[in-house]
Amino acid sequence: MLDVMARPGNLMGECPQMTTEVVPEPGLPAQAQAVAQPQEVAAPLTSAAIFLVMVIQPGADNCAAVRDLFSDLAGLLRAVGFRDLDAKLSCVVGIGSQAWDRLAGPARPAGLHMLPEIEAGSRHAVSTPGDILFHIRAARFDLCFELATHIMTRLSRAVSPVDEVHGFRYFDDRDLIGFVDGTENPTGRRAVEATIIGPEDPEFAGGSYVIVQKYLHDISGWNALPTEEQERIVGRTKLSDIELDDAVKPTSAHNALTTITENGEEVQIFRDNMPFGTVSRGDFGTYFIGYARSPGPIEQMLTNMFVGRPPGNYDRLLDFSTAMTGTLFFVPSMPLLESLAEPAEEDPAAGEAGADSPGAGQAAPVATPSDGSLGIGSLRGVTQHE
Ligand code: HEM
Repeated sequence: MLDVMARPGNLMGECPQMTTEVVPEPGLPAQAQAVAQPQEVAAPLTSAAIFLVMVIQPGADNCAAVRDLFSDLAGLLRAVGFRDLDAKLSCVVGIGSQAWDRLAGPARPAGLHMLPEIEAGSRHAVSTPGDILFHIRAARFDLCFELATHIMTRLSRAVSPVDEVHGFRYFDDRDLIGFVDGTENPTGRRAVEATIIGPEDPEFAGGSYVIVQKYLHDISGWNALPTEEQERIVGRTKLSDIELDDAVKPTSAHNALTTITENGEEVQIFRDNMPFGTVSRGDFGTYFIGYARSPGPIEQMLTNMFVGRPPGNYDRLLDFSTAMTGTLFFVPSMPLLESLAEPAEEDPAAGEAGADSPGAGQAAPVATPSDGSLGIGSLRGVTQHE
């Protein structure tokens, strides 16, 4: 596995987003050392965030406007982020399954699909539309707001917004149900290993997947529970944030159902949940955002939470939390994102190919580039997805 370590942005005009470098791992062949620079997926948790989800309007012009923005985003980020480098402004862009066909297809990241809906009892994990996600983070909300404003000005009528959530950090990194959220997140190299695609999908190495869900809480119902009951639901103590002993932790605890193993090893994801709300409307929410190198583990966690493990042994957090949205996006590497702005040479219908027919076509192999690069040019106009 490649070691992609974060380093601070510098004053030489480097984009705050582009703050990762590849640290070669001894023993790996040179070709395997090459990885496309990821977006800043596993950024340190910040005190402010904006989650912007939008759909692209029909028409090739609108796709072109979105692609143009992708190529200029690093410059916008540099301009806004330079106002306060210490605030570490970052912006991750995700592309939804249907939009991928319009913007970049027909070669597709292996795990990109519409988020499956889950219905079990009164619990419902919805699957909602979303072509583009902008996950904007910083230590200062004004920087997030400024960048979001520039993005929307640029996209203007090419998109229609589906959802915009302004997240804030609440006391000791607590969510609005009062528990510290994010404790068991992987950090450093483990965060990169959990989130960044490697040799398993070479054309899309350096990319990632992200699932977002906007939850609203029945906060008065939750607050009416005794603290000990809340702790059994979450699986940790409320004040001190210590994991409950297995002897007392129910198998339906949130942190039990979201712990999954593969070949005896725990599979980790990187979360950057944020509280949000509108007090006068009684809206108290958690915006769940989870990054992973494959969507499978997060989808498995959702099944465990909503259906239960075993079925029926579901996550009692869901008795007090309703998922209002749910969408899966692919997060291209930096070079792949920027390359999407290049016009497709061989496809006269570029920008609209497959837009209305996701699921059409047959997979064909994409040649693995011999130079160890992504072979980005080959990603448009070569293959068709299932
Ligand atoms: C209502 C929305 C949610 C709330 C309020 C919430 C809150 C929490 C809290 C308080 C913790 C314990 C502290 C920590 O380790 O971060 C936690 C852990 C965790 N949550 Fe959630 N969560 C929510 C939704 C989700 C969803 C939808 C998933 C995945 C599909 C998820 C995955 C996880 C994972 C993987 C852990 C760490 C488990 C461990 O290793 O101990 N959460 N969550």
